[in-house]
Amino acid sequence: MKILMVCLGNICRSPMAEGIMRDLVKKSNLDWQVDSCGTGSWHIGEPPHKVAQLTAKKFGTDISDLRARQFHPGDFDAFDKILVMDQSNYADVMVQARSEKDREKVDLILNLTLPGRNCEVADPWFDNTMFDAVYKQLEQACQQFVTTELGIVNEDAAKE
Ligand code: 4NP
Repeated sequence: MKILMVCLGNICRSPMAEGIMRDLVKKSNLDWQVDSCGTGSWHIGEPPHKVAQLTAKKFGTDISDLRARQFHPGDFDAFDKILVMDQSNYADVMVQARSEKDREKVDLILNLTLPGRNCEVADPWFDNTMFDAVYKQLEQACQQFVTTELGIVNEDAAKE
């Protein structure tokens, strides 16, 4: 499984999602690849936003080694699943799709935890106080992805 996390700048949301997924993959001994990128070019080559790094570190994930890059159509070939943060990322990625196969790979990441609701991960770039909440949303979504992919029955759901 090859997973690409996508946001606008690739310095706040998608690097946190990459770090979270990278840790889950490692913990579960999975042979998966995880990467992230932005639809915009402003921050190419930069490390994650300082508060994104601090937030990730606080919750146990080191993302200081990540560097921003921009999405390109070749990513449709390189990845199986492309998880975007908001509707504008979705539109920016979908417009570059070359086939139905490409389009089928793309989804809003919060559809993992809130199926079919098309909810967006708010952009903490404009409000530093949102980083914790965004991290937790991303953590739940990544955990759900791994659980679903591994076919593990969610014990809470089974009890209901
Ligand atoms: P991100 O946040 O898409 O979560 O990385 C942003 C980072 C930078 C900008 C916008 C959003 N910017 O306009 O530079």
